[in-house]
Amino acid sequence: MSTDTRFWHPFADMAAVRGAEIVITKGEGAHVWDEDGTRYFDGTASLWCVNAGHGRREIRDAVAAQMDELATYQCFAAFSNRPADALAERLAGYAEDVVEDPRIFFGLGGGDAIETAGKLARRYFAATGQPERVHLIGRGQGYHGTHGLGTSLGGIAPNKEGMGTEDKHTSQVPWDSLEALEAEIERVGAEHVAGVLAEPVIGAGGVHRVPPGYLQGLQELCRRHGILFIADCVIAAFGRLGTWWGVDRFDLRPDMITFAKGVTSGYLPLGGVVISGRVAEPFFTRGGLMFRHGQTYSGHPTACAAALANLDILEREDLLGRGRAMEDDITDAFAPLAGAELVGQIRTGVGALGAVAFAPEALAAHPDLPVRTFAHAKARGVLVRPLGDGVAISPPLVAEREEILEAGRAIGEAIAAVAEDLGSTAAAPAS
Ligand SMILES: Cc1ncc(COP(=O)(O)O)c(C=O)c1O
Repeated sequence: MSTDTRFWHPFADMAAVRGAEIVITKGEGAHVWDEDGTRYFDGTASLWCVNAGHGRREIRDAVAAQMDELATYQCFAAFSNRPADALAERLAGYAEDVVEDPRIFFGLGGGDAIETAGKLARRYFAATGQPERVHLIGRGQGYHGTHGLGTSLGGIAPNKEGMGTEDKHTSQVPWDSLEALEAEIERVGAEHVAGVLAEPVIGAGGVHRVPPGYLQGLQELCRRHGILFIADCVIAAFGRLGTWWGVDRFDLRPDMITFAKGVTSGYLPLGGVVISGRVAEPFFTRGGLMFRHGQTYSGHPTACAAALANLDILEREDLLGRGRAMEDDITDAFAPLAGAELVGQIRTGVGALGAVAFAPEALAAHPDLPVRTFAHAKARGVLVRPLGDGVAISPPLVAEREEILEAGRAIGEAIAAVAEDLGSTAAAPAS
């Protein structure tokens, strides 16, 4: 293991990481290996991402074939390439029952997608005679990446600290209250609000399942006030909630859907936005009206080829169906942890993701419980994601039920080991 690094890791306490990097060298199915040869169950699917599992030759072959033909070319103005066209067509096909007459805008990942959706919402209203509609509303505990708009719209406070002024036309409401959303729309003035952003299941903010009817109510509020509903499905899509988009599971009809991660199972960076025909219409019909936005790599042919091969796998192996079934596996794996020492809440039951949250008083006394649990679970061969108040899993959709139950047992042992480390101080109130 290296003793130091010049690689500044994202979201990392580099003082602690220096000399303690976990160098992953190989992946196969639901497992990865580190450079010492230790095998881990990839409980996080590399940040809710590797839905098709690691080591898929088919994606590698598609990437190699595309690189042999045309590795890269930009798509500004009239330029295109076959994989980008084919992927847009295919995604539009998956989306046509969810978003009316969809168009697809590509970027590199989830943060790009959020930036695109937020700017497009504003640009759309500016182009259609309501330029005062610029305000965007996010939710507490929401996570929308770390670009400019995503940072402002996100609801995890530490992610904004010391980052300068937030976009002044953004605000957050509690993640589970329609009354609060309605009050915020009233406070800002509906005629000033361009969009509301919502994850169908809050992911990085702690794996929170919304109250029944909440998302329909949010959509209804948006409709009533002429506000665009932007569903952030960066985690939820491509099988994580057992459907193509995640929102379709709740029978929603958003104006835009942001996606990334599972579209390529993370094999190459790609994300984007599904945009309703209504929002796209002025840009597709009015000569001279341009959405002056995009990246050098928007529509990158090799990334799009990886996505197409990945989608073939999701379809052929019915990994959407597996995502649905995995919901029960994760619920069963975590059920025995309810009531365990240190544990406060089990959050499962909607999609192939779940979290064990620590009891608030234990967490107040020991804010490092998630990180300690991560270390003990890792020592037992399971990688979990430490979140603000707990640890989460979101395994590759190829993981077997028995592997998930085994991961649940390992996490239970890890939490017990943390409790033992802390001894009788574990649940003591913070002094
Ligand atoms: C819901 C959601 N939106 C946006 C993002 C940002 O995606 P990226 O890290 O690809 O920029 C994430 C990342 O986890 C996410 O979970």
